Amino acid sequence: SRTLRLAVIPGDGIGQEVVAEGLKVLSSALPADVKVETAEYDLGARRYHATGETLPDGVLEELKGADAILLGAIGDPSVPSGVLERGLLLKLRFAFDHHVNLRPGKLFPGVASPLAGNPDIDFVVVREGTEGPYVGNGGSLRTGTDQEIATEVSLNTAFGIERVVRDAFARAQARPRKKLTLVHKNNVLVHAGHLWKRIFDSVAAEYPEVTTDYLHVDAATIFFVTQPERFDVIVTDNLFGDILTDLAAAVTGGIGLAASGNINPTGAFPSMFEPVHGSAPDIAGQGKADPTATILSVAMLLGHLGYAAEAAKIEDAVAADLAERASLTAPRTTSQIGDALAARVAG
Ligand code: IPM
Ligand code: MN
Repeated sequence: SRTLRLAVIPGDGIGQEVVAEGLKVLSSALPADVKVETAEYDLGARRYHATGETLPDGVLEELKGADAILLGAIGDPSVPSGVLERGLLLKLRFAFDHHVNLRPGKLFPGVASPLAGNPDIDFVVVREGTEGPYVGNGGSLRTGTDQEIATEVSLNTAFGIERVVRDAFARAQARPRKKLTLVHKNNVLVHAGHLWKRIFDSVAAEYPEVTTDYLHVDAATIFFVTQPERFDVIVTDNLFGDILTDLAAAVTGGIGLAASGNINPTGAFPSMFEPVHGSAPDIAGQGKADPTATILSVAMLLGHLGYAAEAAKIEDAVAADLAERASLTAPRTTSQIGDALAARVAG
């Protein structure tokens, strides 16, 4: 029998509630001979207030032994902005070299699109996860004076760009439409932008079957709304990818449905799966959160670990459930949605 060692970080706000439903569906999807060993880690605002810790070294060490990590949400208004985001979430992404931040944008049948004409949306954003303006390369001078100067310098390495661009080309090659769009802003960010474009063009030569395209990020936001069907795979830097994937969520049924995987394709460290949404403290503890994004992230987790059939079962269950949601008269609670999906997966 096989064992799946899962590290679980529920985190803040609605994190606990949505993760519970994710685990429910995970165990109902797996065959009986797969043993799931979950280790839950108390990290986030509560831990920070109690001990001042965000991600202790000992916990980071332990997490290395997991097959994968499931994370709920990080961030709380009682903690200064950036402390948990940088000290916990980004620290995990950087420490485990999660350079492929995979964020599908798919409009499921029956889900109301805010876009006219109900377009066919099925793309995936490959967001670089370890570089760009996220590295913390900056500082402030004359802090607190009216002469203050703040810098936030984007880091882009040929190594870091090439590996994520290669990953995106391989994904595009494996999809029916075989199209890859690079999104950047090389009319202004000429140093990083041209490096991205040069590497993109040189890897493209190895993928003659993949159709390539380039868009400036501002233009890309227009097409996400006016012509989302033009996208198949998108590769972009860390910050552009952050912004675009919230927009992607908005046009595919909302952040309650948007899943993500922070992938380390080498397997050197565990990959981490999390809903794109945040901790939503305003609705925490009320059973109002939609756990679907977490459940779809669990499907990505299973697919990553080689459980392709189980991942597909979850996606099919979500698709069927979403198709039925439109006809439901009363809103369901977080656990009702989890129960419904677990039952579908099992049956
Ligand atoms: C996300 C979030 C994070 C990010 C924050 C919470 C650090 O917005 O996962 O998209 O910017 O990557
Ligand atoms: Mn974001």
